[in-house]
Amino acid sequence: MDSKSPPPAVRGTRDFLPKDWKRIQYIFSVWRKVAKLYGFEEIEMPVLERYELFAQKSGEELSQQLFNFLDKSNRRLCLRAETTPIIARMYIENERGLVKPLKWFCMSRLFRYETPQKGRLREFFQLNVDILGGGGNHATAEVIACGIDICREFGLMFKDFAMLLNHRKLLEGLIRQITDIDVLQIFNIVDKRSKISPEEFRESLLELGLSKSEIEQIKALADTKGAPIAILEQLKEKDLNEMASEGLEELRETCEILREYGILDYCLIDLSIVRGLAYYVGVVFEVFDILGEFRSVLGGGVYTTMYGGKPAPAVGFGFGDAVIGVILDEKQLYPLFESELDVYVTLIDSSVRSVGLRVLSQLRKAGLNADIDLGARKFRKQLQQADKRGARFAIIIGPQDVETGVVTIKNLRSGDQKTIPQDQLASFEWN
Ligand code: HAM
Repeated sequence: MDSKSPPPAVRGTRDFLPKDWKRIQYIFSVWRKVAKLYGFEEIEMPVLERYELFAQKSGEELSQQLFNFLDKSNRRLCLRAETTPIIARMYIENERGLVKPLKWFCMSRLFRYETPQKGRLREFFQLNVDILGGGGNHATAEVIACGIDICREFGLMFKDFAMLLNHRKLLEGLIRQITDIDVLQIFNIVDKRSKISPEEFRESLLELGLSKSEIEQIKALADTKGAPIAILEQLKEKDLNEMASEGLEELRETCEILREYGILDYCLIDLSIVRGLAYYVGVVFEVFDILGEFRSVLGGGVYTTMYGGKPAPAVGFGFGDAVIGVILDEKQLYPLFESELDVYVTLIDSSVRSVGLRVLSQLRKAGLNADIDLGARKFRKQLQQADKRGARFAIIIGPQDVETGVVTIKNLRSGDQKTIPQDQLASFEWN
């Protein structure tokens, strides 16, 4: 590497120039707005965690993606890769004093050693919305509704995305009716199904020891996808074992509540939705763009708080910034970000600089975003700078104005000018 140029950024991470950061801030604003509309309260947690927290709780795939290292006291730490185990810890450690069920959300920077690709990075932001300590299927429907409403708030419509639903127990029960081979291994393959070819899918199941007929049945299961009412009917006709029946009933009730919310039309049941994470025990869900061009927009499900004692029920989802960012970009759904600079103070010559600084400070005290040239640019250049920076107004100050105690305000959008006494700056209508 040329020592004259700085080392490049770490692969899969991003630098954010102001224009990029505005987009992220917009995504944050939508996340926060809808989460609050649904009565969720914001929390935050450390970026550094003990390695075991994820290694034990998140399942194999995520454990292999941890950015981990030994600290100076030889403790194995890692950068947080998801927030669910941390939220479970926060719940358990503070459970007594809290009013349940808890409705928490957070917007966190996460780190995963994944292969960087469109919508998947090694450092990204993720909204998490979780309900802990009760609520049953109503809590599940509430978080699903929140996820759908966030997509809608971003401007996505019915034709743009689908909320895919499944139930871990339903799928496990159905698989157990087909084969005795380890369900978790089959889950892993079903989970990868959309990322591998049908041949690879069959091969992987064959390697596990499934017969040809078992493979075809698993494939038929994984292909089961459609409108909730139709799929629920179809499954009801089947002779199901206890586990599958229990899962089906919970899924049915959840769909019933989603219908009451008026959002069942956004949902499909898709029996191939497994979710890679180890802790899910009930309804699982993922949002995809309708053409299936991108990786998941959000994903979540029902889990328990995963530590000793009495496990508490919980449900939530994670919603990353990367996939939605690509979709907003492609569909041109980002709003127009106007400059946030209200006023640029310009000076006819440097003799009036001290008055200019006083005016600047008056403007800032009045709550206006105001700036001034920090060099010794000519007046014309200062006006150009005001324009380039997107300021709404320029204030023009010349030697004569100083004598008479006035300033000229120029509306840079309309070109209108107005001269007012300097002490009336705060009460001027800056609209
Ligand atoms: P997850 O499926 O690992 O679930 O991630 C959820 C979402 O985070 C994905 O749908 C995607 O939007 C985003 N995401 C995941 N990995 C990446 C990546 N490498 N780059 C960019 N975005 C990514 C969880 O994390 C669960 N903890 C969610 C949850 C909360 N379950 C219950 N509560």
